[in-house]
Amino acid sequence: GNMPTVADIRSHDADDDPLTFLTAYDAPTAAALEAAGIDIILVGDSVGNTMLGYDSTLPVTVEEILSHTGAVTRATDESLVIADMPFMSYGADPDEAIETAGRMIKEAGAQAIKHESGPHTIELTERLVQNGIPVMAHLGLNPQSVNETGDLTRRATDAEEAEEILELAKAHEEAGAFALLLEHIPANVAKHIDEALSIPTIGIGAGPHVSGQGLIITDVLGVGDWVPPFAKQYADVQSEMEKGVEGFREEVQNGEFPANDHYVEEPIDGWD
Ligand code: KIV
Ligand code: NA
Repeated sequence: GNMPTVADIRSHDADDDPLTFLTAYDAPTAAALEAAGIDIILVGDSVGNTMLGYDSTLPVTVEEILSHTGAVTRATDESLVIADMPFMSYGADPDEAIETAGRMIKEAGAQAIKHESGPHTIELTERLVQNGIPVMAHLGLNPQSVNETGDLTRRATDAEEAEEILELAKAHEEAGAFALLLEHIPANVAKHIDEALSIPTIGIGAGPHVSGQGLIITDVLGVGDWVPPFAKQYADVQSEMEKGVEGFREEVQNGEFPANDHYVEEPIDGWD
């Protein structure tokens, strides 16, 4: 581990040392990320799809993010842990947003929050930072807007949209964001945005010309049934889980489990 703080990330020189960023939602997975030296752990609202069985991130609640963030922060002490602000917990009422973001820090132990960013989060970012709550901005594909946009496809596919994202990126840096997550945009657009900013850019499906690379942990581990085209699977944990569970079932059914060393007989009078 390299124990990064928000200040370390903000001033990180990524040219020869790209940052690593993964999601985690529970203690054992967070411990594995930290043991592997991952710099940044996001407790994403992707927990809705990946862990809670929803088909979008929209139903995820503040209480759910608090609970999963608590599990992750209790299992780590070196990685930077960021809590994701769920749908409708910010953007509408800034006072409520600041209070909720504060709970992510005070109650769940996160060091920073992330919000899906737009014109409505510029002033909010400034107020959060003034209150001591570090902010990661998130531009490009914003899955919480799926009902507005209609799909989860690549963003910044024309000059107008690329320009809009670039301007929002600059505005959030100006407002005090310590880093920017860029999701599912062309690599050349990400390159321009990275070059226009002094804060680090983390790309998820945004190509190599950024300060760091991020992925969703279930895509990396091979848990679940759908992997986006930009992700890479590094393990097959789903089949390992199935193997383990099948092993148990088989051995119970054929009488191999429990074996002698899994139980004791106590010499109690009348209980032979
Ligand atoms: O919730 C999430 O996992 C995200 C990803 C884009 C990292 O926001
Ligand atoms: Na998210």
